[in-house]
Amino acid sequence: MTDAIAERTPAIRVRGLQKSFKKLHVLRGVDFEVAPGSIFALLGSNGAGKTTVVKILSTLLRADAGTANVNGFDIATQSAEVRETISLTGQFAAVDEALSGRENLVLVARLRHLPAPGSVADDLLERFSLTEAGARKVTTYSGGMRRRLDIAMSLIGSPQLIVLDEPTTGLDPEARIAVWRTIKQLADGGTTVLLTTQYLDEAEQLADRIAILHEGRIIVNGTLAELRGLLPPAKVEYVEQQPTLEDVFLAVVGQRHGAE
Ligand SMILES: Nc1ncnc2c1ncn2[C@@H]1O[C@H](COP(=O)(O)OP(=O)(O)OP(=O)(O)O)[C@@H](O)[C@H]1O
Ligand SMILES: [Mg+2]
Repeated sequence: MTDAIAERTPAIRVRGLQKSFKKLHVLRGVDFEVAPGSIFALLGSNGAGKTTVVKILSTLLRADAGTANVNGFDIATQSAEVRETISLTGQFAAVDEALSGRENLVLVARLRHLPAPGSVADDLLERFSLTEAGARKVTTYSGGMRRRLDIAMSLIGSPQLIVLDEPTTGLDPEARIAVWRTIKQLADGGTTVLLTTQYLDEAEQLADRIAILHEGRIIVNGTLAELRGLLPPAKVEYVEQQPTLEDVFLAVVGQRHGAE
């Protein structure tokens, strides 16, 4: 390891993470690191354990074994500090339906003890193109509007790390692109982003590094170029075609299935 790398403590460092639910061994030794200010995508099929990893890192769930550091704090012994430096946007929107979009934002800003919660809310409504809908109850919002509000809520207090569990599931293409743009802006501003997704194009578009969680372990971890390098390019009518992330995903996940 070079000095330059050693000096930069990873935003997330996970070692040997294990978790079982009764007899179901969901995580069997998960290892990965996320560099500060980068976007890291965790891929995996339904039930692979992505949400379980996210919940453990957010201190909502305890691991059975292994260690993890988040922003330099140990998840087991410094959970309060971990919670102060991260924000989690769960797989299912956590907005209060009975309130308006603006009221939801003001509520979170108050809970985080920020001065001027009203202007925090107005800034975020503007940033997420929700100004016009701000006064309306969330029950009247579309799925995309809810998701945008949910992400806006998670940015209050400028956390160092934002964890997004399937941020664009159920969104239309336009709303997805709007969320992608926001995620890129966050990372450009120095925020670390950990996201889970089942959309391989989402990982291709956004992530600096991509890891595939399969049968309890990270079986592949690298940049998109590194992952593509796992497969030979296909020659279609004399034109070389780079493998897509989908090709890589199916190949590595399929191989493992075959091996066991
Ligand atoms: N509290 C729990 N009790 C029992 N089993 C659980 C619990 N939480 C998760 N599981 C099981 O652990 C496995 C992993 O679940 P997890 O939600 O982490 O998967 P995921 O990768 O996020 O899937 P998805 O893509 O569907 O969101 C699943 O088989 C799930 O049923
Ligand atoms: Mg999940």
